[in-house]
Amino acid sequence: MDSVRTLPASWFINQNILDIEKRAIFLRSWYLVGPTVRFANENDVDYEFAGVVVRVHRVSETEVRITRKSDGIQVAHYLTATGLIFTTIDPGAPPFAEYFPPTLLPLLDTHDFRRLPHRRRLSYPGRFNWKTMVDGYQECLHCQYTHREFSVMYPPTFYAVKNDGTTSRHFADERYTEAKDGLFMYFFPICTLNLYGGGMSSFRVCPGEKVGDTRMEFDYYYLNQKAIDTVKAQATAEGRELTDEEVEKAGLEGFDEYFRFVRRVAMEDFDLCEVAQSNLERGVYCQGVLNGAKENGVLHYQGLVRERVMQQFKMEQEQERLGCEERAGVPAFGHNGRAVVRGSA
Ligand SMILES: [Fe+2]
Repeated sequence: MDSVRTLPASWFINQNILDIEKRAIFLRSWYLVGPTVRFANENDVDYEFAGVVVRVHRVSETEVRITRKSDGIQVAHYLTATGLIFTTIDPGAPPFAEYFPPTLLPLLDTHDFRRLPHRRRLSYPGRFNWKTMVDGYQECLHCQYTHREFSVMYPPTFYAVKNDGTTSRHFADERYTEAKDGLFMYFFPICTLNLYGGGMSSFRVCPGEKVGDTRMEFDYYYLNQKAIDTVKAQATAEGRELTDEEVEKAGLEGFDEYFRFVRRVAMEDFDLCEVAQSNLERGVYCQGVLNGAKENGVLHYQGLVRERVMQQFKMEQEQERLGCEERAGVPAFGHNGRAVVRGSA
């Protein structure tokens, strides 16, 4: 059955596929750039998606303007009620409400993403195709043996992915389905949001110029509200005011430990992807079969890739055919069935 097969290995190593993905997927997608607090201390932050650079300009605490650097046009963006900003990179993208499923906003509205201040941004290259990393994110069969520390905190006895259009929600443990900690979201094609371990991270798997290159970008958000409340109570008992430095210090309590934990998970995935990509390039693997239950996240997003790329390919082939006919003066048939020579009056 074709629907449970992976994308062929060639889709991860063929430059023409990346080029067509840019037209079929990247120019028509929406990207999560972060919560409004991401831009609290910087007026302008640049993002690059598939060769297109957009600049997020902070207008006020609740407003941003996003422009494409190459031509200065303003691109469409969307700010959710609880503070997440999504952007497009090209006017060819559909409206937000058409691109994402109607279930997304009610889900995002259950979390206040402005609560945790931005602490750190990381960006570094990876020698793998963007889909190699998304494949890994969209399943957790590898978690038990790759992320040992993570598996202790979030035992892989329960793991489920719920796909809905261009989003996938991951449930690492059934205890977290209703809790505030443990929200894992994938936004097709390359953005994620991960609220766990007391902090929040968002990463983007940005495709490089070459099919086997990627740039990983991470943003980390963190606030230890419990520690702030404790020092506040102490200060009140001592009859004195808290200083800003004391609040900041308490808010960062535990950040190093959180950061070490999430970075470890990220590097474990990174190493796995570099090995997987090198195997793909050496021809070790051509095409596999996916487990429809445990790998439904991979199956779903790969289906979106396949569908969009095939549609684009067919459309471009048709345009090419029409262009050839036009150049050769071959008559085509109009709606009424009468022959029409293209280019003639
Ligand atoms: Fe992983």
